[in-house]
Amino acid sequence: MSRIEAPRGTFDILPEQAAARAALERTARELLEPAGYGRIETPAFEATDLFTRGVGEATDIVQKEMYSFDDGGGRSLTLRPEGTAPVCRAYVEHGMHKLPQPVRVYYLSSFFRAERPQKGRYRQFWQLGIEALGSDDPAVDAEAIVLLATLLDRLGTQGVRLRLSSLASPATRAAYHDELGAFLRAHADRLAPAVRERIELNPLRAFDSDDPGTRAVMAEAPRLLDRLEPDDAEHFAAVRALLECAGVAYEIDPTLVRGIDYYTRTVFEFTSDALGAQSGVGGGGRYDGLVEMLGGPSTPGVGWAAGVERMLLAAGEPAVDPIPLDLFVAHEDARLEAFALVTEARAAGLAAQMELAGRSLKTQLKTAERLGARHVAILDGDAVRLRDLRTGAEQTAAREAVVDLLVAA
Ligand code: HAM
Repeated sequence: MSRIEAPRGTFDILPEQAAARAALERTARELLEPAGYGRIETPAFEATDLFTRGVGEATDIVQKEMYSFDDGGGRSLTLRPEGTAPVCRAYVEHGMHKLPQPVRVYYLSSFFRAERPQKGRYRQFWQLGIEALGSDDPAVDAEAIVLLATLLDRLGTQGVRLRLSSLASPATRAAYHDELGAFLRAHADRLAPAVRERIELNPLRAFDSDDPGTRAVMAEAPRLLDRLEPDDAEHFAAVRALLECAGVAYEIDPTLVRGIDYYTRTVFEFTSDALGAQSGVGGGGRYDGLVEMLGGPSTPGVGWAAGVERMLLAAGEPAVDPIPLDLFVAHEDARLEAFALVTEARAAGLAAQMELAGRSLKTQLKTAERLGARHVAILDGDAVRLRDLRTGAEQTAAREAVVDLLVAA
C-alpha cells in the first residue's frame, strides 16, 4: 500500500523537538506574565468574514492564502491565518472593554496560510503573539516592542535588526495613497507590470518590488512619514523616545509595509540575518480601527506576533536537560510485580520506568544507564536487588521496602 505523508508545508514536532519549544514557551511566559499579559487561546477556525474584514480583502492572505471551507450548513469558516482579528473578536464577545484597560493577552498557537513552502515558511506554523487593547498611549507600543526585543535577546537570536515606521491614520493614508497612485501613474512606463496592475488596489506594495526599474522610481516616490498629521507625528516621536530610553536600537524604514490592512500609526518588524530569504522573525503594530471594524466599540490596540520556527532557527535550539529518572525496574517475566513497583514509585513522586520490551537483563541494565536512571531495581523472586548506578553500590531489599529506601536516598 502506498505510504501517506504529512501534507506539504506541515511538519511533525517530535519529542526531541518538543523540549526546545517548551523551553521557548517558558521563556515567553516568564517574560510576559510579570509584565501583565495573560494567556488567551481562540479557536483554530473562525467565520471567514472575520479575516476578510479584519485582515483586508486586498491582502495576499485573504486573496490566496486562506484555508476556507463550508461548515456543511452553508457558512464559510477559515483556518486562522493570524491571531489579531480573533483576539479582537474575543475582546468584543466577552465585553472586555469593561475590564481595566489596557487588556493585555498573549497566545502561542498554530496558524495556517497556503503559502509556497520553503525554509522558515510553512502552511501550518506557530506564532507567539501579544495584543494590548484599550489604550493608545505610546508607552504601550514601546512596551510591546521592548518585550519582543527582550524575548529575542533571552532566546539568543542572532543578528537581530528592528525596523520601525508609522502608517498614520486611515484618512492620512487615504490621501497619501491618492498622492502615491498619481505619482505611480505618472511613471507607469518604468514600473514592472505586476506593480502597475496593483496601483489602484494597493500602491504601497510598489515599495516591496525587486524590479530595478520600479526600485529606481520608488527612490523618488513621496513618503508617508513626511505626511503625518501633528498628533500622529507626536505619537511616533513619543514611541521613538521611549525606545531610546529603554536602550532598544531601531532603524526608521519609511517603506515598511506589513501585508495586513488593519495597521495604523506604529508598525515594526524584527529581522534576523541568521535566517535566509524569510528573514522576518516577528512584527506587528498598532491597529486602532480594528475592533470597531469587527462591530465593537472604538478601541485602540497594538501587538505583535513572532514565528516560533523562525525564532528557533535564528536562535539555535536551546540545550534542554531531560527530567532525571529516579528508578528503572528491570525484570524477566515479572510484569505484575514490576508494574506494581513502578506504580508505587510514581505515587510517591519518583520518576520511574519499567522494562516493556522483553529485553535480556543485561540489555535492560544498559537501557537504564542510557536513560540516565539513578537506581535500577532488578526483580529477582521476592527480593529486589537495588543498584545505585552512580556509585555501583548494590543492596538487597524486600519489594515493599524499595520505594521507602529510594525516597530516603
Ligand atoms: P505577520 O507578520 O503576518 O503578522 O506574522 C508574524 C510572524 O509570523 C512573521 O514575522 C513570521 O515570523 C511568522 N510567519 C508568518 N507566516 C509564516 C509562515 N508561513 N511560516 C512560518 N512563519 C510565518 C501577523 O500575523 C500579525 N497578526 C501580527 C500582529 C499582532 N500585529 C499586531 N498584533
